[in-house]
Formats: sequence, structure tokens, C-alpha cells
Amino acid sequence: LEENHLILASNRGPFEFEVVDEGYSKKRGAGGVVTAVSAISKYAHPTWVACAMTEGDRQVAKEHGDTTITVEEGDVSYRLRFVLLDEQVYHWYYNVIANPLLWFIHHYMWDTPREPMIGSEEWQAWHEGYVVANKAFADVLSQEIEKSDKPPIVLIQDYQLYLVPGFLRQKHPDIVIQFFLHIPFPGSDYLRVLPVEMRQAIVSSLLACDIAGFQTNRSAVNFLRAAGTFVPGVRVDYDLASIRYRNRTTLVRRYPISIDTEHVSRLAHSEQADKELEFLRPYFGEKNILRVDRIEPSKNLLRGFEAYSLMLDKHPELKERVKFLAMLVPSRSSIPEYSRYQDEVMAAIGRINIKHGTDYWRPVEAFIGDNYIRALAAMRYYDVLLVNPLIDGMNLVAKEGVLVNERDGALVLSDGAGAFEQFAPLPLSVTAADILGTAEALYKALTMPIEEKREFLARLRECVINEDVTAWLNSQLIDISWLIGA
Ligand code: G6P
Repeated sequence: LEENHLILASNRGPFEFEVVDEGYSKKRGAGGVVTAVSAISKYAHPTWVACAMTEGDRQVAKEHGDTTITVEEGDVSYRLRFVLLDEQVYHWYYNVIANPLLWFIHHYMWDTPREPMIGSEEWQAWHEGYVVANKAFADVLSQEIEKSDKPPIVLIQDYQLYLVPGFLRQKHPDIVIQFFLHIPFPGSDYLRVLPVEMRQAIVSSLLACDIAGFQTNRSAVNFLRAAGTFVPGVRVDYDLASIRYRNRTTLVRRYPISIDTEHVSRLAHSEQADKELEFLRPYFGEKNILRVDRIEPSKNLLRGFEAYSLMLDKHPELKERVKFLAMLVPSRSSIPEYSRYQDEVMAAIGRINIKHGTDYWRPVEAFIGDNYIRALAAMRYYDVLLVNPLIDGMNLVAKEGVLVNERDGALVLSDGAGAFEQFAPLPLSVTAADILGTAEALYKALTMPIEEKREFLARLRECVINEDVTAWLNSQLIDISWLIGA
């Protein structure tokens, strides 16, 4: 693969630029995609194409025009190229289609009998936002492909860029295109809530790829079914997990994403993390339940708090001894569904603290903001890590937690998380909707014998170390090498 030029595309790039007095400051981009894809930059010197999301990004993008920005940081190096979208196009693409509509459908979250979902605003946003943005990405990728002096391999990330493979393939019939979906791919019965035109456009675009990668077997099988159901003229081979369409074969593969274990351990034990742990000490109880999440409805925060409250009702002896630390990162706040959810979460925390709190004890300690090092420091100290999403592509918090924890902490994981497929069987698994079951699992986790917890944690940790992000990347590169006969 040294003979090739890797070109990555993801909506959010590795950095956000902020305008400051003397120019720009750079802040690391957040989210699973950035974490995982950054790892690629350690092994190759890729070109990374991403959307200009902040005002700073937009200015940097304007200054650089169609040239790339070279970024060197420690052992990571790449060329960054921004896609600059008209603000209205970006709004339609990100705030109307990608993040309520596609995100909610992929996470089974539309209240289908009641919520209006696809009206004229969504249709306009699809045609004049999502399609236009995807085309703009494909155009920029195409320019980078044309500039490339080595055969390019294009790795496209996630649901924001579903239509890119299709557009790109029209111009470049022979290059390798690989797509990876970081979120769950829904079952066909649910994908059916998308109008025919949209779902066909999405699925047939992915069939322009050489490989379509998913986090779990469940998602991979859902995609095979969707191709057979929604796109006329495809032949699905379930045994080989491949799809034949318009003289091309698309391999459908599972690549469970993970974390860069060395990097995460280093950060979790850095001086800064030690300081954060000191900062957190006054907030800890005798026993600590932790959750670390973006504030986002698929993370199922409300039921998690509800379950904690129920556990306190049933086991009042735990009052003043246990604490629930919630490290919450506001997310996509410009979208009404998300900002409403954030208000509900804050209200739920307030209610629990009023209901159960005493003069000496606040049952929930919430930390709002994006402080990754503080979150890692808290992960070193939990007794119970609660990860109870409705459904989640993988959930890297579950992996970070079991890697860095120092207190033989127990993981309570919902079976909707992609990580469940890798970690199962689990002694403390829960169903996301089951508040009583979650309350019982929290109690069991808090009172589990130490040997059991130790054994449980060691097994999960081994699983994370054996299949870290390098394995995720390598298995994709091995499949690509096989494909190009390298
Ligand atoms: C999830 C998605 C990513 C996305 C991230 C953060 O991990 O799979 O594609 O980048 O959330 O979301 P945001 O909208 O803030 O980039």
C-alpha cells in the first residue's frame, strides 16, 4: 500500500480552527470518526477531506483554495483539504438531513405514528442540501484523485457522505473506493420510512464501492437485505457477503472499530489526567457510577438516570455512599430535537438531586462540556460504567473505560451497543428500554464480589487490547490489498 495514496473523507475533520487575535487556533475534532481515522495518519500520509464546520474552518478554507494544508503533529501527519459549503446548503445537509433524519432513522428513533418526518422542508433539504454537499465532497475528492501521483484508494466515512461513492464512481470507474459506516445500519422494515428515492439513492451509491464496511454483523446483514429489497437488479450472495450490481461486485464486511490503546493509556495517565483526577476527588462517593456521553437521544440518558433513581428507591442504604458522575458533551445543539433533549436531561438530573439529595450529598454530579482528559481520568476511578444506548454503532466509551479503569470497575452495557457483539456474553447486560432491569444491573454491579469483577474486567480489557484500532485499520487494508492484488 506504500504504492498507493490514501484519501480519506469524513464530515468532521481532525481539527476545528477558531479565529483568534493573532490568527487561528486549532482544536481537536470530537467523535468516534475522528478518533479512529486519526490512527490511519500514523501509518500512511493520507490526504483528509473534511467539511469546513466552524467560521475559522471557513476562513482557512478560503485562504487555501484548492490546495491542501499540511498537518504534522507527533507521529501523525496528513494533508487536510476542506470542503466549503454555502451556509444554507450546510444547514440542510447537516441540521435537516444527516442529523435528525438519517441519524434518527439509523437509531430507530422516529416516533413514526406521530412525528411529521418528511415534508417539503426535508425534500428541499435533501435535493438542495444533502445531495449538493455530497456532490461537493465528490468534486473535491476527484480533484485530489487527479492530482495524485500514485494510484488512489479512497476511504469514505459515515452516513453524512452516503452519496459520495456514487458520484465519484461516475468519474473514476477504476479506483478503489471503500466506505465505512460508523453508526448502525437499520433493518429494511425501518429503512422503509425513508422515501423510495432517498433509500435507493443511498443503497445504490454504496454499491458503487468495492467494499462497504460496517461495525457489526447485524449491520452488515441489514445492508445485504436492504440491497436485495430496495435496489432493482442486484444479486445478493449471502454466503460470500457480496452484492453484484451494474457489473461491479461490492464486498460487505464487518470491521469493528476500536481505540488506539497506547494513545488512550498514555493520555489517561498523563500529568494533565492526574490533575483532573485530583479535581474530581471531592465529587466522588464511596462508590461511583460513571457515564460519558454526547448529549444525544440515542445514548438513552434519561432512562439511565431513571434507573439510578429507582435503584436508590429500592436500596436506600446506598444513599450518601454512592455517586453518579455524568460527563456530558453537548452535541448538535443547533438542531431542535437535540437541544430539547439536553433540556430534558438537565431537568432529570435536577429532579433526582432534589428527590434523593441531602444536605451532605448530591446523588448526581454532572459535568457539561468537552473535556476528554477529564473523562479519561474519571474512567480510571469508576466502580460501575453505565453504557446503555438504545443502539450504537460501536461505543468507544465502553472500550476506553475497560482499558483505563483502576478499580476493578464493572461495565453495565446495553445489548444495543455494537461493542456488545464483541464483548458478549456479559454478566451485566441490559436492554435499553428496561428501567427496572437497568436499576437491578446497577445494584448488582455495585455489589458484585471483587474476584468476579476483576475477572470480568480482565477479559474485556484483553478483548480491547487484542483488537484495537490498528486491527480495525489493518483488516480493511488487508481486504483492499487482496482486492487490488498487492
Ligand atoms: C458519531 C458519528 C460520527 C460523528 C460523531 C460526532 O460518532 O458516527 O460520524 O462525527 O458522531 O458527531 P458530529 O455531528 O458532532 O460530527
